[in-house]
Amino acid sequence: MAIGDSAPQPDTESSEAFWEQRYAKMTKPSGGRASAALTRFAAERAPGRALELGCARGDDAIWLARQGWTVTGVDVSKTALSAARASAEAAGLSDRVRFVHHDLATSFPNGTYDLVFAMFLQSPIEFGRARALRRAAAAVVSDGLLLIVSHGSRAPWSSAPPDTVFPTAREELAMLELHPGDWREVFVDEVEREGIGPDGQRARVIDTVVAVERL
Ligand SMILES: C[S@@+](CC[C@H](N)C(=O)[O-])C[C@H]1O[C@@H](n2cnc3c(N)ncnc32)[C@H](O)[C@@H]1O
Repeated sequence: MAIGDSAPQPDTESSEAFWEQRYAKMTKPSGGRASAALTRFAAERAPGRALELGCARGDDAIWLARQGWTVTGVDVSKTALSAARASAEAAGLSDRVRFVHHDLATSFPNGTYDLVFAMFLQSPIEFGRARALRRAAAAVVSDGLLLIVSHGSRAPWSSAPPDTVFPTAREELAMLELHPGDWREVFVDEVEREGIGPDGQRARVIDTVVAVERL
């Protein structure tokens, strides 16, 4: 079963209902740590304007704002966005990071960006992920970076069906339908790392990483 295609749809009406339910149940505060792939690919870049799709409770966006970037984080869950705003406020970064509500199935933020990224923007509710990520690519300026990190294996604590087939990094890149002459590959591969589950469980997991720079 390919992720996002034929996976059984949970018994909820919309992405918003599904993800609201998820975040409403989260009692522990978010970890506050930035994703390894983001720190790896963004740390060396000069700060500019960044857009994150599926920003959840804002850890990555806030880390980036702390590095001097001006960041827009987008998510479908208003609960997650409120938590993200509260964390940005607590960190004194509200002037540099804003969190806005979009269901990427139906809307997309305006503007162009030096960095557009999506970390695990995967959902059991179909929302037109490929179309949203192609729009993400279109929002990257010349010399800007598009970074897409996705699950490449099923973690033991995942709610994905056991027979889920995850695309490879090359398949993710192909899905974006980028014009090869317009982009330079920075890194396109699978990366193994130690994943940490919601109850602190640990397991080796695979991420697919697509990092490409617009020429
Ligand atoms: C698997 S989580 C990943 C969250 C975070 N980026 C991370 O790395 O942990 C997917 C995120 O995408 C958001 N999302 C799912 N469907 C969406 C949609 N249609 N529009 C906007 N955000 C969506 C969810 O609310 C959730 O925060």
